[in-house]
Order: sequence, then C-alpha cells, then structure tokens
Amino acid sequence: MSQNNSRAVFTTRFGAIATTVGSAVGLGNIWRFPYEAGVHGGGAFMICYLAFVFLIGVPLLCAEFCMGRGTRSNIFGAYRKLGGPHLARFAGTLGIVASLMILSFYSVVAGWTVEYCLSSLTGGLDFSDTAAGHGQFVSLTTGWRPLLWTAVFLVANFVILISGVTKGIERASNVMMPILFLLLVAFCINSFFLPGFGDGMRFIFAPDFSKITPQVLFGALGQAFFSLSLGIGGMMTYASYFSDKSRLGRTAMTTALLDSAVAILAGVIIFPAVFSFGISPQAGPTLVFEVLPNIFDRLPGGMIWSTLFFLLLFLASLTSTVSMSEISISYFCEEKKMSRTRATVLSSAIALAGGLLCAMSFGVMSDFTIFGMTVFDLFDYVASNFCMPVGGFVCAVFVGWFVDRKFIKDQLTDYEAYRFPLLRPLRFCLRWLCPVAILLIFLNITGIL
Ligand code: TRP
Repeated sequence: MSQNNSRAVFTTRFGAIATTVGSAVGLGNIWRFPYEAGVHGGGAFMICYLAFVFLIGVPLLCAEFCMGRGTRSNIFGAYRKLGGPHLARFAGTLGIVASLMILSFYSVVAGWTVEYCLSSLTGGLDFSDTAAGHGQFVSLTTGWRPLLWTAVFLVANFVILISGVTKGIERASNVMMPILFLLLVAFCINSFFLPGFGDGMRFIFAPDFSKITPQVLFGALGQAFFSLSLGIGGMMTYASYFSDKSRLGRTAMTTALLDSAVAILAGVIIFPAVFSFGISPQAGPTLVFEVLPNIFDRLPGGMIWSTLFFLLLFLASLTSTVSMSEISISYFCEEKKMSRTRATVLSSAIALAGGLLCAMSFGVMSDFTIFGMTVFDLFDYVASNFCMPVGGFVCAVFVGWFVDRKFIKDQLTDYEAYRFPLLRPLRFCLRWLCPVAILLIFLNITGIL
C-alpha cells in the first residue's frame, strides 16, 4: 500500500486480490462453515451455500467493489455520495454496529486458536480420545484464560491496524495463506485414510433435497454473507483502497472461488473425522476445536502439525479482523474526523467490551440467555443472519435500481479499457435475483410465507 492524498491504495493488483481473499478466508471457512453445515444436515446445506455464494455473493461483491472503489469512501460515505444522507444513515449504522458485533465474537474464537497453538507447542493438549477432547475444550474455554486470549488477540489486531493498515499483514498473508492452503490439502489427504471417510463425504456432499428447510436456507444465506464479508461494507471498504487498475469482476470471482474452496477443504477434513471418532456433527460452535486435535493426535509428529495449523488459523483470523475493523475505523476517521489512532482505540475498546461478554458466554455467563441464546450466539445470529443479508438486500436494490448504469460500467471496465461481458446478467441478479431471494428467505423463516 502507498499513501496517496492521505488515503492508502494497494500498490499491486496481486496485493489487492491477496488481501481481499485474506479478508474472506478466515474462521468463517474453517470454524463456522463446518459447524453450520453439521447443524443443518450436511449436503443440503452445502448445495444452498454454494448456490448463494455464486448467485448472490458474486454479484454483491461486484456491487460493493463498484461502490467502494468508485467513491473511495467508507460505507457511510459511499451511500451518502451515491444515494443521500438517509440511506447512508441506515446502511452505514447497520454495517458499523454489525461489524463491531462480529469483531467481538470473532476475537473470542481467534483467542481459542492462540490457546490451542500454545498448548500444542508445550505439549499440553490431551486428545487421546473424544471424551478427553471435549473435557479439554471445556477447561480451555472457561475461566479467565479465554478472556485473556481474546484481549491478546485484539491487541495484536490493534498493533497491525495502528502501524499503517496493511504493509505487514499484506506481506504476511501473501506467504501465509498459500501455506495454510497446502496444509489443508495435506489434512484432506489424511482424511482419506480415516475409517469414517465414506460416511463423512456422504454427509457433506450427498445432496438430500428433502432436507432443505427454511432453517437450512436461512443458515446457508448467513454463512455465504459471513464468509464473503458481505452486506455490511467489509468489501466496500477494502475496495476503496483498490487501485484504478484492479479488475473488479475478476477479483470478485477469484475471491468467491478461493473462499468456497477453503470451506470445502475444511468440510473434507472435519466430517470424515467426525464420523471416525464418534462426535456429533451437530455439536455447534465447539465442533472444530473438539475434532481437529483428535486428528492431530493420530498423526506422527501431531503436536507440530497442531501448532502450525493453529498458528496459521490465528494469522488467517487476523487478516479477517483487520478488514472487519477497517469498516468502523474508516467511518470514524472520515465521517467523524477522528485521528486514525483514536478511531482504532475506539473500535478496539468496543470490540474488547463485547468480546469479554462473548468469552464469558462459555463460562460464568453461560446461563445468561436472551431469546434462548447466549451473548456469543446472539451476536453471531443477529449480525450474520440478519444484518448482513439486510445490508446485502439494500446494496443490491440500490446498485441495481438507483445507481447510474454508467458509473457501474465504468468501474467494471476501467472506463472501457477492457470489456466486462457479464454486465447484463449482473444487473439482472442485482435487480431481481438477490433481492427476491433474500426477501423470500426472510418471509419463509418468519413463517409469513
Ligand atoms: N469473511 C471472514 C471469514 O470468513 C469474516 C469477515 C472478515 C467479515 N471481514 C468481515 C465478516 C467483514 C463481516 C464483515 O472469516
């Protein structure tokens, strides 16, 4: 990135793609996708998820990219410049509140990766059997330690943000993400040798259309949005740092392909293990942390694999939280005229307060529930399943129906420097497919339809 009229710009096209993929790939793929797929019946969830990624996610990525790069603003500023102050207030507030909620619970899970990484390194993990794995998870995620790790993670995030956006993280993620990818491929190959390989693959890939319920559709929609950092300005903010030369359509497609590839790899790693070790696929947010160490325990040099994996997962989480934090920081800086340092302190402090509440949801506050959910679950559910799709709905309708056609075309073709052959299908998706699909799923889940 280089400073350009006080606003940073990614210097290379590769850098822009790598950081965008870095934002998308994170705990959403490796922790959230398997547990959501497990809760929602596997194959049925997988088909809906992939359909949403490509039919709703890719068009919305293009829309957010156009808005972000075309206005070079935060979410609030982008809507204000293109649509007006009322729309900006609605979409901007939704995005900023949701991004801080996500940052809160995300930091807790990222904190678990720190704990697991250090415990692996010191040989302190005991996963000789499934019960031990569960017990270990419980002891590692209750008490004061998860609070400490949540704070440690947020401090790491803070340091990266304060030291001039992404120079360091850009370089780190260019190296780390390919390594993480290779490691995932290696674990996939290992899955092949597990006794539950067939059952696991059937669970995640065999499409059982009769299992597609409103809950499955709702969950898959939320997961697609979460995984692509969509609907609340994550990608819009990042695109505001793209150079004029970045090809937006291609970046959107590359991001969606790599992001879903990582989610599928995670599924291929987790489910054969779930069936081999007799763990319930419905375990929820704890699933991956209970299953993975069982896998590592059976590998030669397991603790080394385990340490490396959790270290990379920690770094993948950081590349995601940097983008999440950037939503509110760019808003505080540009709209509220705060210094970058103040803005970063403010959003980190809010995330820390929220994060501590979420961390306690697994310990002293586990009995404190709202609508039957702990604070942790509630933050995730409200932000991912409501705020993000609602934000996506607004973005699709706005870009599809109200933004000047030429503005969008110019963004996608760099002022006709090259062609973008999919302009018509894109418009159709934004005008009709995305809003109607999101609306139907909402009507369906509320029982109106
Ligand atoms: N997509 C990330 C993941 O899968 C999460 C994420 C990063 C995000 N940036 C975001 C979610 C912005 C919402 C908004 O882990």
